Amino acid sequence: MLKLIGPFKEIITLSGASQKGTLGDSNLDIIKNGGVIIEDEKILKVGNFEDLRSEANTIEEVEGDYILLPGLIDCHTHLVWGGTRARDYTLRMSGESYEKILEQGGGIFDSVEKTRKASADELREGLIKRANRHLNDGVTTIEVKSGYGLNVENELKVLNVVKNAKADVEADLIPTCLAAHVCPKEFKDKKEFLTYLEKELLPQLLVKGLANRVDIFVEPSAFPMEIAKEYMLAAKNLGFDLTIHADQFHTGGSQIAVELGAKSADHLEASTDTEVDLLAKSDTVAVALPGASIGLGMQFTPARKLLDAGASVAISTDWNPGSAPMGDLLVQAAILGIYEKLSSAEIFSGITFRAAKALGLDDRGKIAAGMKADLIAFPVDDYREILYNQGKVKPDLVWKNGKQVKHV
Ligand code: NIG
Ligand code: FE
Repeated sequence: MLKLIGPFKEIITLSGASQKGTLGDSNLDIIKNGGVIIEDEKILKVGNFEDLRSEANTIEEVEGDYILLPGLIDCHTHLVWGGTRARDYTLRMSGESYEKILEQGGGIFDSVEKTRKASADELREGLIKRANRHLNDGVTTIEVKSGYGLNVENELKVLNVVKNAKADVEADLIPTCLAAHVCPKEFKDKKEFLTYLEKELLPQLLVKGLANRVDIFVEPSAFPMEIAKEYMLAAKNLGFDLTIHADQFHTGGSQIAVELGAKSADHLEASTDTEVDLLAKSDTVAVALPGASIGLGMQFTPARKLLDAGASVAISTDWNPGSAPMGDLLVQAAILGIYEKLSSAEIFSGITFRAAKALGLDDRGKIAAGMKADLIAFPVDDYREILYNQGKVKPDLVWKNGKQVKHV
């Protein structure tokens, strides 16, 4: 069955845009008055709507002016948690630092306590609510980290919640094990904790199909470089893809990410020219997390410098109860864009195919033949209106795997 959807005033295909480095508006590869032929879950053909009419079995006509983009991809979230961190946020607004709150046993530890106490059903409900809000905003692929369990039992509970929620969420959920988020209070020695994860938890994840990606928070207050590198090397040898919470407050994590060939290095607010250069020369995607900068009132990831140096830059929400409670990808990408002076093509690529690369996926994020038919249509008549409205204009229409999941 070949289904034609359209006509769209403009289709922002991003089809020829490069994986790395700077992009300009010509890289948007816009098709005017376009249509998309979908076969099952994939895009078969993109072109002029009228020209495609005769090639389709059915036509789903869209009424009004719409701009079509690939479904958005959020490649870094912590969507499963219990409780709230409104108290932390209030403390931070009055000047307390994130690291100090953590050192005093609050912050991430607070979410760990509440997540351990929560039942799988409660966690599932929260995850489904957040993932569906994201889908409604046009996010069709969502990475989800564990990391508020911090022991075998609770990390498995959380990753099982992600696996089981897939039946109730139309967006794709990509699980990542972040058991090495911080060292739980019951372990006095960080290295001992990482060895416990390596021996007792990681092998189970592969057998049970719960995650094939491993993350770690590399920071003196979480896991210092030397022991973090050993753990990540062990994870790599077990067959996991790697991603790293890197250079958020201190440099170091991005170096490990590049050395071990991680899919992505995320945060990078503290990265200097040395780290920018390292990342630019590598295949590791640099992931900017403006939601964390906004939530902590700190500087943004140097996205402009990274792109100019030749890196691949993705943009993600880091949606979590602590540092990044907003969880609005388009708003945050638009804000990062105006502060860091990014082109529309750099911003759209950062929340589509470059974010897909950070997840090791090459089957989505562009509107081109063979790609997944994950598509979103904005009720505007010029693509510039989308970022100009700073993310407040959301898509009216959303297709996931070729099926329309949001209507007007
Ligand atoms: O990516 N920096 C470490 N981890 C998360 C925050 C988690 C939390 O504060 O609960 C982040 O910002
Ligand atoms: Fe994070």
